[in-house]
Amino acid sequence: MTNSIRQFPCEGLICPICGEPLLQNGGSLLCGRNHSYDIARQGYVNLLPVQQKHSLAPGDTPEMLAARRAFLDEGHYSAIRNDVIRALDGIPGGVKAMADVGCGEGYYTAGFQRIFPQARVIGADISKAAVRMAASCDRNICWITATASRLPVKDGFVDAVTAMFSLLCEEEFSRILRPGGRVIEVTAGTRHLIELKRIIYDDVFAQHKCPKAPAGFLREIGCELRRFTMTLDGRQLRNLLLMTPHTLRVRPENRARIEGIDSLELTVEYFLRVLERAEN
Ligand SMILES: C[S@@+](CC[C@H](N)C(=O)[O-])C[C@H]1O[C@@H](n2cnc3c(N)ncnc32)[C@H](O)[C@@H]1O
Repeated sequence: MTNSIRQFPCEGLICPICGEPLLQNGGSLLCGRNHSYDIARQGYVNLLPVQQKHSLAPGDTPEMLAARRAFLDEGHYSAIRNDVIRALDGIPGGVKAMADVGCGEGYYTAGFQRIFPQARVIGADISKAAVRMAASCDRNICWITATASRLPVKDGFVDAVTAMFSLLCEEEFSRILRPGGRVIEVTAGTRHLIELKRIIYDDVFAQHKCPKAPAGFLREIGCELRRFTMTLDGRQLRNLLLMTPHTLRVRPENRARIEGIDSLELTVEYFLRVLERAEN
């Protein structure tokens, strides 16, 4: 074991309390007004002040995160990740810095950093447990606990924001984007995992989905509905159920039915939307 202090990739970060730039000072990040944030030994920084937290442990539970990691690492959603990488590749001027907001356990974030090794990649999530798990993926990534509605990132610092099955905070994403920068958003379509939802819900199509039109900070430049199928065995299906919010709503008798399934073909359907920062 060494006690050497690791460099934390903090360029572009600002203090969530006063907005001053954050610089590394030993094992902490410090702003000009002496607000200090410890760099956790796992390689992330908690930049979510208590006043921005709306619950004690916001976000997915550790059990949901472990299921998400096991499922995603098997590559079932690699086509989605590749779609987003292509969209990032198409950003005029390239991607020198980006933020993956609502990064979860970091599967997509780590994939983006691998494809864009020169880019400064920030992975942000409101869940400390998620960011702690994510930090084990790639130590070059700037992993932070933060809320999407108040990102501790300088104005205009990033070329891209990704929001993978997470939330779109238009005004805030537009603030941290440079002019011409883009948001790549992935959201579930109405038929996403329809075969699983038919087991769980009585009225599946009542949950009709479509991305909301942007309110003015971002301009939509493309939105496509993509679809593919995957066949899962029982273990994979249980992980899938556990990693989604459906796990919180499924009735015990339906959970038992799902747990008895050996193999199921499922539809994966998602909107891939590209939005550009609107000119001021
Ligand atoms: C459905 S998960 C998606 C995780 C990851 N992007 C993926 O696709 O595997 C949504 C994530 O958004 C995070 N989240 C929810 N509200 C948030 C907020 N206000 N700010 C930042 N992250 C948030 C959750 O903790 C969770 O990790």
